[in-house]
Amino acid sequence: MTEFRKHVAFNGKLLIVGFGAVGQGTLPLIVRHVDMPRGNIKIITATDWGREVAQEYGVAFVVEPLVPENYQRILDEELKAGDFLFNASFDVSSLALIEYCAQRGIMYLDACIEPWAGGHTDTSVPVARRTNYAYREAALAMRERFPSAPACVLMHGANPGLVSHFLKQALLDINRDTGTNLPQPTSKEQWARLAMTLGIKAVQIAERDRQMASPRKQWGEFANTWSSGAFVGESLQPAELGWGTHERHWPKDGMEFGFGCGSSIYINRPGCTTRVRSWVPKEGPYHGWLISHGEAHSIPDYLTVRENGRAVYRPTCYYAYHPCDDAVLSLHEMVGHNFEMQERTRLLRDELVDGFDELGVLLLGHAKGAYWYGSQLSIEQTRQLCPYNNATSLQVNAAALGAVIWAMRNPRAGIVEPDDLDFRTVLDIAMPYLGPVVGVYSDWTPLERRGELYPEDVDRQDPWQFKNFLVE
Ligand SMILES: NC(=O)c1ccc[n+]([C@@H]2O[C@H](COP(=O)([O-])OP(=O)(O)OC[C@H]3O[C@@H](n4cnc5c(N)ncnc54)[C@H](O)[C@@H]3O)[C@@H](O)[C@H]2O)c1
Repeated sequence: MTEFRKHVAFNGKLLIVGFGAVGQGTLPLIVRHVDMPRGNIKIITATDWGREVAQEYGVAFVVEPLVPENYQRILDEELKAGDFLFNASFDVSSLALIEYCAQRGIMYLDACIEPWAGGHTDTSVPVARRTNYAYREAALAMRERFPSAPACVLMHGANPGLVSHFLKQALLDINRDTGTNLPQPTSKEQWARLAMTLGIKAVQIAERDRQMASPRKQWGEFANTWSSGAFVGESLQPAELGWGTHERHWPKDGMEFGFGCGSSIYINRPGCTTRVRSWVPKEGPYHGWLISHGEAHSIPDYLTVRENGRAVYRPTCYYAYHPCDDAVLSLHEMVGHNFEMQERTRLLRDELVDGFDELGVLLLGHAKGAYWYGSQLSIEQTRQLCPYNNATSLQVNAAALGAVIWAMRNPRAGIVEPDDLDFRTVLDIAMPYLGPVVGVYSDWTPLERRGELYPEDVDRQDPWQFKNFLVE
């Protein structure tokens, strides 16, 4: 039997809330790499799904959905200072759980800041407040209220999460390969200066999921390689993006938030109807969806260079997501049906027959043009590496494991987001589960072949303008 390295010993209790693609796929990794008694792990979730996985690992499993009226009572019964809450649910307010944990000295991690059920589409809330930008601002504002909070890691899966660490590695690679050779940064300010010096104008989180399932998506079904519900929720949030200082074309329906750090804007339409041009090494060029995500705010905020309080440099940043083909069809059907989600959902995991997920960061505008750095994990490799995962979820869960271990080693770290963590620690822990991790330069630009068939209104002076990426 393979002996797995224990990265940390933990003698508190670990409560996992929600047990779907993230919960089920992370449990085997935690059991392998965290030295703790299984009797100290418990799962509380909304349905019976995953009960047999919990049983296989000898972990307690309770079905009791958290709602605003009961979550404090449930958590009071389960957790005390020094314990750990791993929030792997959706439809449970991350902000409520973060506040609960920060107040009581309980460590916390989630993979996304989620609202209570229905929050993404609650029309009584202004659009700007139903955004990942607003959720992140609210979470970060808790730093002031809880200055000595335990480690509460926000939004740490693959993206948001791992990609912030890929980004730092990619910046170092470009620094080396262009002969720029600045010393390795040790602070936020230095990372931002490095990005500015390298001339990075845009950072895309570029993902093409090419896993294929049999049977294919059926009519009236949402099929996806991770949560269909969470994906639909975020796809109905407005398209949000970090807004670079080089941008000179304000997008149609572009809106300022009017509060918070000011790193970002949104387009007043949902991400599921907003497509952008992107590029990944195996697929080449593709159209992805600009799906609202936390890293589209944390990364540009982190990389902003200010002089006398004014932002003099910031890259544009957003997610360009091409989900697996069955999820594309599912999304198309959902959008066509007046944004009503299908009643049936299917997590594509055991029925995947082939393919891989290419997930990385695409850095654009530097001396070598475009550089993609990321993971090209296949479903075959995934099955050899860890049960109850597909390629997509293992990229998420290996990174979540890295962040759990980082938090357990830094229990007093306070409220942090991926960009605040030591990138090498997380990469070292996650790397064995990511398949080939490659860096590839490309001369691709979003202007390629534009205007050959039809004239187009593009900015030829600067290929890296957001205008050139947006599919109108
Ligand atoms: N950062 C990333 O890379 C990344 C990737 C995938 C998922 N995520 C996020 O992780 C979270 C989980 O995603 P997933 O793919 O595992 O979702 P999933 O749909 O597969 O599982 C969600 C789980 O939450 C449970 N749940 C729902 N309502 C609940 C409630 N009221 N109380 C307790 N449990 C409840 C469900 O029963 C289910 O077990 C979501 O917020 C998602 O957006 C982030």
